Amino acid sequence: MASLEESIDELWEHRSDLAAGDGDATAIVDEAIELLDSGEARVAEIDPASDEIVVHEWLKRSILLLFRLATMSTTQVGPFEFADKLPLKKDFAAHGVRVVPGGSARRGAFLDRGVILMPSYVNIGARVGRDTMVDTWATVGSCAQIGERVHLSGGVGIGGVLEPPNAVPVVIEDDVLVGSRAMVTDGARIGEGSVIGAGTILNPSIPVIDGETGAEISRGHVPPWSVAVGASRRRELPGGEFFLPCVLVLRRLTEGERHDKAALNDVLRSHGVST
Ligand SMILES: CC(C)(COP(=O)(O)OP(=O)(O)OC[C@H]1O[C@@H](n2cnc3c(N)ncnc32)[C@H](O)[C@@H]1OP(=O)(O)O)[C@@H](O)C(=O)NCCC(=O)NCCS
Repeated sequence: MASLEESIDELWEHRSDLAAGDGDATAIVDEAIELLDSGEARVAEIDPASDEIVVHEWLKRSILLLFRLATMSTTQVGPFEFADKLPLKKDFAAHGVRVVPGGSARRGAFLDRGVILMPSYVNIGARVGRDTMVDTWATVGSCAQIGERVHLSGGVGIGGVLEPPNAVPVVIEDDVLVGSRAMVTDGARIGEGSVIGAGTILNPSIPVIDGETGAEISRGHVPPWSVAVGASRRRELPGGEFFLPCVLVLRRLTEGERHDKAALNDVLRSHGVST
């Protein structure tokens, strides 16, 4: 993989010289995209030693290079016509993934076994962990990292890192429930086992406040095993008193506890295939 990384970095240095359809460059970039698609490589991960998020920039670059190199193609399904540069992911059943009509994922996204896509969208570079449910109208932005047994409820927006180009992808750790229409963007992180209330807005500018003490825990990072909701905080500005959003940690779950509102329903998740 090291030499592939070097080749991608070299292409990146000379990206302004690359033209769409360049066969040699496309072959190199495609190798990197294949690693993302199969889950062998991932754009970002949590370093277990430091608990920090490590971003593999060269894989992000390979995606940006793909956009430069790819050519437009028109496809048709019944009366629907699409014109795009990137193909969609395929062979879901063989990989133990269930996709309801209207759900789609781009090639270069990885969906682990047991994933269910309701009519939703998963962009390139994203990774969705085992047995995770991406519910109706949820979107998983480019390079976002979603853990195992997560429920992204209806209409949840998980931001991507390609446009605007952000340094760190969104990371949702294992066993999280993100409530309906919550928006988690720009490198925000939700710790393992947490439950995020419907409609919550989380990004690295939003303070996460401990409801017990009133202290600011972080900006954009909900700690593990938290039950958190969108709330507002008073803010004095020259123009008057305003209320800006924050995320309030209402209480902490004990490690390993699943919130009763976050219970998974095995009947809905059954694939009828061994996973
Ligand atoms: C966050 C959540 C799990 C909290 O549930 P809970 O632990 O049982 O807590 P409660 O319902 O007792 O609510 C605690 C407090 O938070 C408030 N609250 C609950 N949900 C809230 C939300 N989404 N945003 C802001 N405040 C919220 C309640 O009004 C309550 O305030 P109070 O203490 O003054 O009465 C739940 O409210 C929620 O949002 N679940 C997600 C639902 C969802 O999107 N399901 C999707 C299925 S597809």
